[in-house]
Amino acid sequence: MAAKSKVKSSIDVAELTKAQAKVELMRLALELEGHDKRYYQDDAPSITDAEYDALRQRFNAIEKRFPEFVSSDSPSQKVGAAPSGRFRKVRHAVPMLSLDNAFAEQDVLDFVGRIERFLKLSDGKIAFSAEPKIDGLSMSLRYEGGELVTAATRGDGAEGEDVTANIRTLEDVPKKLKGRNVPGICEVRGEVYMTKKAFLALNERQRATGDTIFANPRNSAAGSLRQKDPSITASRPLGFFAYAWGEMSDMPEDTQSHMIAWFEHCGFKTNPMTRICHSVEQLLAFHRKIEEQRARLDYDIDGVVYKVDRIDWQERLGFVSRTPRWGIAHKFPAERAMTVLRDIEIQVGRTGSFTPVGKLEPVGVGGVIVQNVTLHNEDYIRGIGNKGEELRGGRDIRIGDTVVIQRAGDVIPQVVDVLIDKRPKDAKEFHFPKKCPCPLHTDVVREETATGEEGSRARCTGEFACPFQKIEHLKLFVSRRAFDIDGLGEKQLQYFFDEEWVREPADIFTLQKRNNKLKLEEIEGYGETSVRNLFAAIEERRKIPLERFIYALGMRHVGETTAQALARGYGSWDAFHEACLKVAKGDEEASAEMDALDQIGDTVIQSIKAYFGESHNRGIVERLKKEIEVLDAEKPKSNSAVAGKTIVFTGSLEKMTRDEAKAMAERLGAKAAGSVSKKTDYVVAGPGAGSKLAEARKHGVTVLTEDEWLKLVGE
Ligand code: IVH
Repeated sequence: MAAKSKVKSSIDVAELTKAQAKVELMRLALELEGHDKRYYQDDAPSITDAEYDALRQRFNAIEKRFPEFVSSDSPSQKVGAAPSGRFRKVRHAVPMLSLDNAFAEQDVLDFVGRIERFLKLSDGKIAFSAEPKIDGLSMSLRYEGGELVTAATRGDGAEGEDVTANIRTLEDVPKKLKGRNVPGICEVRGEVYMTKKAFLALNERQRATGDTIFANPRNSAAGSLRQKDPSITASRPLGFFAYAWGEMSDMPEDTQSHMIAWFEHCGFKTNPMTRICHSVEQLLAFHRKIEEQRARLDYDIDGVVYKVDRIDWQERLGFVSRTPRWGIAHKFPAERAMTVLRDIEIQVGRTGSFTPVGKLEPVGVGGVIVQNVTLHNEDYIRGIGNKGEELRGGRDIRIGDTVVIQRAGDVIPQVVDVLIDKRPKDAKEFHFPKKCPCPLHTDVVREETATGEEGSRARCTGEFACPFQKIEHLKLFVSRRAFDIDGLGEKQLQYFFDEEWVREPADIFTLQKRNNKLKLEEIEGYGETSVRNLFAAIEERRKIPLERFIYALGMRHVGETTAQALARGYGSWDAFHEACLKVAKGDEEASAEMDALDQIGDTVIQSIKAYFGESHNRGIVERLKKEIEVLDAEKPKSNSAVAGKTIVFTGSLEKMTRDEAKAMAERLGAKAAGSVSKKTDYVVAGPGAGSKLAEARKHGVTVLTEDEWLKLVGE
């Protein structure tokens, strides 16, 4: 973005300078965002589809020439963002979440062990549905009265895009459900995919007509679905396998495998390789067998999925954060490729830690072009592991080296080997910087480990004075899971930051007041409407739920789940803030109370202590707090006898596991804490209870047996 006079938007992409490209990308991102909003939310597009496509193509062409400016919130990175891909948003009645990944056999053992412990069942008692993991796009099909009414993509899990007209062209998707027991509301979920053969043929045709070449069948399925004209989707052979469900007004079956059979009965295709397994050995044998068949299949799979078969057990097991306890994706080993390391750059993260990033000669790995690899830290480059062990036989990584890289799922690609015989004479050793590359050139230190030894991560010591850290924190602050301000993405924020209009979070909320000086509407690509929209979006966020606010502060080790636990634990900003200030001053009682909260341990407490111990941070928080209102954490919805109470479970329970008991307490609106304090309401003590029981007696806390607890909660 720049003042109107500074930008010449009609310069040929090939002639843009780096600086011009940066400005133009920012301007176009804003413009596209504005058009998307007018199209999706206001239903009032102000330009034609062809004009929109032209803008988007220019944006893509600039990003292609300057890949260093591609950021994660770029319009080009949005799921399946094809040129005309604009569809109405649909909110999912039940969120579309994803599965955790297992890579090693041990991960599968741990998964099954966790489930057995949770359900208190021994090996062999649990049946699993084992299914291939189709590498396509997940889709939710909503039927009402047996008729297909909506088809929605996954989107961000909460909201997807309405692709009903296109999905109706798929042969594998029944428009009306056949058979028995069809509930009034029935959401069938599964994967849309394109066969490898159809993908190759489509690319042939695309090449002949000079159209987009797709990188893999998954992308071509996505591109084919996001067509404004359903007849184009109809001309692309897409398949659909049903394997899950969303909202159901009634459950027709009680196991995953029976549900799959029921889907077939209704007219769906389901994957023929699905099997029931009863042990870890059988699961692993299934993984081996499917991997062995992988290359011969006519569609892409990237692993297998294991799911506890009994649905009542799935319900008991529930979810941890955003993935189910009852299911896991066991991925196939990563794919590898060889390429040349062209350069090494340092990225400074939000907390000042340095990550060296290897810049590669672009190479295709499993259908994706890779140009960056993480090189983790200085030791990693030198061939030394976290525990001082040798990596790659002790071989270091030099600029100019030929390296073997690997990519596994969505994980950032890694270097697994260096080919020493291919090392050129002029290969350059990398000297890790002693100073931060930021304009302050602050000293770099290596972090200490928990045991006080020198760790492998280097950090800038500038803290909030380091502009890299400031901007990274601001990016987190406006991100979707924090303040989520419409129209203020990474690009706009970077611009405001570079112009020194926004240097800390509070500045975002004073932009409007200062606008008679800043004149945002004069920036190319903005205009009065966009500025009005931006200010409205900022106003909307002046009220923010406590958990989002805590997360947005960007304290180390305080991610979303921890922020939720803290919000639930303290209930209000005032209570939390007071506790943090006390913890920072070394108040032991305040630390012990924090420690007593479920999911909060020493690492988090130390981080809160460090954050609030720093006057600069306290100032940032205070100035921000003056601008906004932090809403108390939601009161427990439950009207159970234990809603809002703090419970500690101790000793061995007989009717359920400790984890299950904690989950039950939380479901009922109670807080399950790890240690007893005078704020504890009940201690549920089983046989073998020791010091916690003694503590309870000391504080006069009511002690319950397991049966008394179950009676109290009415279960
Ligand atoms: S079950 C709670 N079953 O893998 C999520 N997913 O991260 C339940 N997938 O988004 C998903 N094959 O797109 C399930 N047989 C299968 C699957 C499958 C492919 C995809 C799906 C999901 C992702 C899991």
